[in-house]
Amino acid sequence: MTTTTERMKTATVTDEFDLAAPAYDRLVASSPGYHRDLRTSARRLFLPNRGADQVLVDLGCGTGASTAALAREYPMARIVGVDSSEGMLRQAEAKGWPSSVGFHLARAQDLTPEWAEEVVGGPADAVFASYLVRNVPDPDAFLARVRALLRPGGRLALHEYSVADSASARAVWSAVCWGVVIPAGRALTGRDDLFRYLWRSVLDFDGRAALLQRMRAAGLGAVASAPMPGWRYGITHTFVGARP
Ligand SMILES: C[S@@+](CC[C@H](N)C(=O)[O-])C[C@H]1O[C@@H](n2cnc3c(N)ncnc32)[C@H](O)[C@@H]1O
Repeated sequence: MTTTTERMKTATVTDEFDLAAPAYDRLVASSPGYHRDLRTSARRLFLPNRGADQVLVDLGCGTGASTAALAREYPMARIVGVDSSEGMLRQAEAKGWPSSVGFHLARAQDLTPEWAEEVVGGPADAVFASYLVRNVPDPDAFLARVRALLRPGGRLALHEYSVADSASARAVWSAVCWGVVIPAGRALTGRDDLFRYLWRSVLDFDGRAALLQRMRAAGLGAVASAPMPGWRYGITHTFVGARP
């Protein structure tokens, strides 16, 4: 991991998301398949009965794009979105949500079973985290925290970039970042720190095998990954697991 990337994760990544928050939805709207792919990962939780009687926690919910994917796939579930950026949460909260959806300001790595008891009424049936695990300072500690939030049998889906195992995926990722993401981010927000960090942090992050191994080491069972369709094939994946 480069020093700059490490420093962002421990110090300023939340501040950068605060600054990007007003433009975030416009940025992802220009990314083909962004919302469709979140729904694909949400479906891979395979929750029964459209989520009836289930509690879902959406960690790193941002402006609510992932929360909306969960609400669309599981309209009967209770969903709590959690994010460490006030700016991103403000954007999420300003949208119209059913009364079964709520939001909470917190760092994902600080959540405990006591938090789950207090805020969601007990252990979660499922945790979803899109584009988050790469941003936390200690992914192993984060995954152990997530396991502790789940009830036995509860499911986790991580929706995340992972290119380390493929030279072609790394090349496509760099081309997309320098050709589109960084210039578009700079144009829409007036700065590019977050988008350069995005590029670098994905290159530095685990390959699929390494992330699956981390999930196993954190005590998750039935771990597996599946690719996205379209241009993100080989770049973005769903990683699923369950608390035994
Ligand atoms: C790339 S955005 C993804 C937002 C949303 N899940 C989506 O799919 O559009 C990552 C989000 O994670 C949040 N985040 C980063 N580090 C976090 C942490 N340690 N705890 C909670 N949220 C965090 C950021 O504030 C940001 O809103």
